[in-house]
Amino acid sequence: MSYEDVYSSWKTHPDAFWMKAAEAIDWVEPPSKALFSENAPLYEWFSDGMVNTCWNAVDRHVEAGRGEQLAIIHDSPITHSTKGITYRELRDRVASLAGALKAKGVGKGDRVIIYMPMVPEALEAMLACSRLGAIHSVVFGGFAAHELAVRIDDATPKAIIAASCGLEPGRVVHYKPLLDAAIDQAKHKPDFCVILQREQEVAKLVEGRDFGWHAFQYGVEPADCVPVEGNHPVYILYTSGTTGAPKGVVRPTAGHLVALNWTMKNLYNVGAGDVFWAASDVGWVVGHSYICYGPLIAGCTTIVFEGKPVGTPDAGTFWRVIQNHKVKSFFTAPTALRAIKREDPNGELIKEYNLRHLQALFLAGERADPDTIKWAQRHLRVPVIDHWWQTETGWAIAGNPLGIEELPVKIGSPSVPMPGYDVKVLDEGGHPVKSGDLGAIAVKLPLPPGTLPGLWNAEERFRKSYLTQFPGYYETGDAGYIDEDGYLYIMARTDDVINVAGHRLSTGAMEEVLAGHDDVAECAVIGVADQLKGQMPLGFLCLNKGTNRPSEEIVKECVKLVRNQIGPVAAFKLACVVDRLPKTRSGKILRATMVKIADGETYKMPATIDDPAILDEIATALKGLGYPSQ
Ligand code: COA
Ligand code: AMP
Repeated sequence: MSYEDVYSSWKTHPDAFWMKAAEAIDWVEPPSKALFSENAPLYEWFSDGMVNTCWNAVDRHVEAGRGEQLAIIHDSPITHSTKGITYRELRDRVASLAGALKAKGVGKGDRVIIYMPMVPEALEAMLACSRLGAIHSVVFGGFAAHELAVRIDDATPKAIIAASCGLEPGRVVHYKPLLDAAIDQAKHKPDFCVILQREQEVAKLVEGRDFGWHAFQYGVEPADCVPVEGNHPVYILYTSGTTGAPKGVVRPTAGHLVALNWTMKNLYNVGAGDVFWAASDVGWVVGHSYICYGPLIAGCTTIVFEGKPVGTPDAGTFWRVIQNHKVKSFFTAPTALRAIKREDPNGELIKEYNLRHLQALFLAGERADPDTIKWAQRHLRVPVIDHWWQTETGWAIAGNPLGIEELPVKIGSPSVPMPGYDVKVLDEGGHPVKSGDLGAIAVKLPLPPGTLPGLWNAEERFRKSYLTQFPGYYETGDAGYIDEDGYLYIMARTDDVINVAGHRLSTGAMEEVLAGHDDVAECAVIGVADQLKGQMPLGFLCLNKGTNRPSEEIVKECVKLVRNQIGPVAAFKLACVVDRLPKTRSGKILRATMVKIADGETYKMPATIDDPAILDEIATALKGLGYPSQ
């Protein structure tokens, strides 16, 4: 069947399409139908089925005779170690951890926060939760204590599972003090914490509250898989929105299983026994879908990589991993390739490795720039597939479905909508624009299985953020266009979200932190173009009247404040002091115009601007920081 056939078979009979896809999942009780639309525009999938995620990701592969196959390969150039875990070992380790959690009262529906680096135990913790029907929420290690505290208060976890430390090149990330500080700051307190002590740093445990990973499991009864309803959340993953309060994206169990399994074969073209590698982090959605769940549900071997594209030890590390572990399908962010390309422009290091098992390279997380795609095509000689998705959807909205048919690649486009997604480009009034015209990208409801049915504890915010602007559609927050062949082009965000090194960040959240500085009266943060990271945050600070300390001192303090409050991942290093911010007459800060000035793009003077002279002041301040950069 061609892509056209598959897409139109979904469009004509969506329920039949997804019920067929659901046959690949082991159900305790199969669902009676796919879509549940009683609460439209809030939709659910497979709600009356009973199923368990961990069973489908782990146990069933052992039952099927693949117990000796590697489920996980941990490759850590930072600790110079590699280790494999078979499906049988994984089942036993996960059942044991789940048993220990259960013995301490964790059960179906309880939340568990996981704060861990790229070690196999992070996946084991996720799977142990899903084995019990407990809802995990993984927090990325690059976030500071305050961000962790915000998530603790929103998810109100019964337990937190953490590691003693994470390892960044040249730096140990002390997780335990961050965890302790977060618990101190949070109003909600977990019943207990489980700490994986790593040999690089042994953390001090709080008596009565903290338990060591191994001691905690000593003598416990391994736990069985607990069947849950199809609409039961498997996890909550917080992502950046417009304000400082992150959005808790809820992932429903059954749709997640069905959709991810479908993508492994049809999009990534891999199956049981193949090696799949997503070089991301378990703290992001790519890590959830394609380091942990997707490859394991499909019976692949997944790679947990603790390293960076460059510097651990060099720009050849990705190619070494692909060669040594016979990776068939590889997924990374364009920023990682840009980092490699900068160090190895002629791909000399690629030539040192045998990449014959590699079938395709997938890119996502940010716009894939043409130079990077062409560089990868030239040096890797495999299809380079851009695909577009979001934390909210959990899997690709648009892509090039290699397992169905390799469509012609159009550089700059993540190709075509996947079955389940009826994508439209709308004008401000919500009317579809003609092909080639720019507009807001929206998806006709219902969204397909596996996508978010809502936000944790925030139904109104869910409706307001995604469903209100264009009734009958899901608003993606991205703008772009569709060409005459139906290929999508994603051009920009329509909100205050920026993308820094493939990490989704909120400028609103940074502004909230800056506004908390004693000398700052008003501020704005914008994302400026950056050759390596795609975008970088840049702050403008207006100081309180009468402040007579040196600006550089205040800028330094502000940079430190963002690092301490949000975390190093915010990469907030650029800021300047200005007298005023450019605004409309109604007081709205003209951030988009400031971005254009910083990027050296031409811009139209906004008709509603209050005082055009302020733009010159902004341009002068930007020049002082070296912008526009070329
Ligand atoms: N735990 C703790 N700190 C972390 C972290 C983690 N898991 N991940 C990143 N950080 C820190 C970094 O050490 C850095 O700290 P520093 O300011 O002290 O140097 C800071 O956060 C910013 O990190 P990053 O933006 O990633 O920049 P970098 O210079 O360390 O690395 C790249 C640049 C391009 C090599 C790197 O960003 C990269 O590999 N990106 C790919 C991202 C990716 O896969 N995203 C997932 C989406 S699919
Ligand atoms: P996240 O939720 O962190 O996955 O970030 C999602 C956002 O990243 C999207 O809304 C886009 O703005 C951007 N993004 C992800 N993939 C792509 C892509 N292939 N092309 C352009 N932008 C992308």
